Amino acid sequence: MRTSQLTTPALLVDAAGLEANLDTMAQALPGTRLRPHVKAHKCTALAVHQAARGNTAFTCATAAEMEGMARAGLGEDLLLANEVADATRLGALARSGARVTVAVDSEETIAAAVRAGVPEVLIDVNVGLPRCGCLPEDAGRLAERARGSGLAVRGVMGYEGHIVGLEDRSTRTAMLEESMAQLVRAHDLVGGDVISAGGTGTYDLNTWATEIQAGSYALMDTAYAKLGLPFAQALTVLSTVISVSDTWTVADCGLKALAMDHGNPSVADAEVWFCSDEHLTFAPQAPLRVGDRIRVLPAHVDPTVAYHEHLHVVDGDEVVDRWDVDLRGW
Ligand SMILES: Cc1ncc(COP(=O)(O)O)c(C=O)c1O
Repeated sequence: MRTSQLTTPALLVDAAGLEANLDTMAQALPGTRLRPHVKAHKCTALAVHQAARGNTAFTCATAAEMEGMARAGLGEDLLLANEVADATRLGALARSGARVTVAVDSEETIAAAVRAGVPEVLIDVNVGLPRCGCLPEDAGRLAERARGSGLAVRGVMGYEGHIVGLEDRSTRTAMLEESMAQLVRAHDLVGGDVISAGGTGTYDLNTWATEIQAGSYALMDTAYAKLGLPFAQALTVLSTVISVSDTWTVADCGLKALAMDHGNPSVADAEVWFCSDEHLTFAPQAPLRVGDRIRVLPAHVDPTVAYHEHLHVVDGDEVVDRWDVDLRGW
């Protein structure tokens, strides 16, 4: 099949770019030094390629991702790097044979894990991102509570999400050191083998963590491309030109096919004006005609992929495979 036969908008994954990204990361962070985050691609077929390179322990963001990974035979060591108020589904998953660990940052989330029968937890520590995670000084008390309730505490996690996307490497490095000092301090109080942290933007800088939770590196986006990392932009959205005026051109790829929280997408040799629900308005350097196909580069990979049902793996204009984005939903 050729890309010209696909209904647009359609997600394309450049096979060579993806393979190179997975190889580069697996060489930098072999085995369980990397715990790939599946939220970035939500695709078990892609995760199989990560596992084949030895990166067999995975990070998930939702119960549905945990269940889907286990169903696909990838449940060797699954971390839900997120708090849940009701862990019932995770308990069931653990009893079905998958190794299940959940992040906890409060007495309530510890109680939820105990009630559901989730055997293992990480104490989630706030390392500067105003999101989940306890204060570093509370981590020891929570670990004690968890162990006292019969849970195995594997260690700590602390995601430096306020740092991973910073373009300036020296700022990223300096802020990371400060952030990870808090995580190490918490780990001293908690104990355990695991210090889980990191993302694509800090994969080679975060030497404090025992495992890095990077996800975007596999497919990449234009926000991360600005950091000069050794990962190729493997993901594009194939789109069809549907209207042409003297000044601008419109393609059938809008807000419902592209996440916009990191800004406008990009199109090679063109200035992107704006997106509306089903439209991308842009000014190409060379004129295009109705029916022409363009490849749009998303600014943020994770939510873009979550809008789509399939990843079309391509070699040039040939579609060599179609993978379901089967970890969508909650
Ligand atoms: C908990 C957690 N860990 C790690 C990541 C790293 O992902 P990325 O590879 O996009 O930097 C994220 C991304 O949002 C996250 O939420």
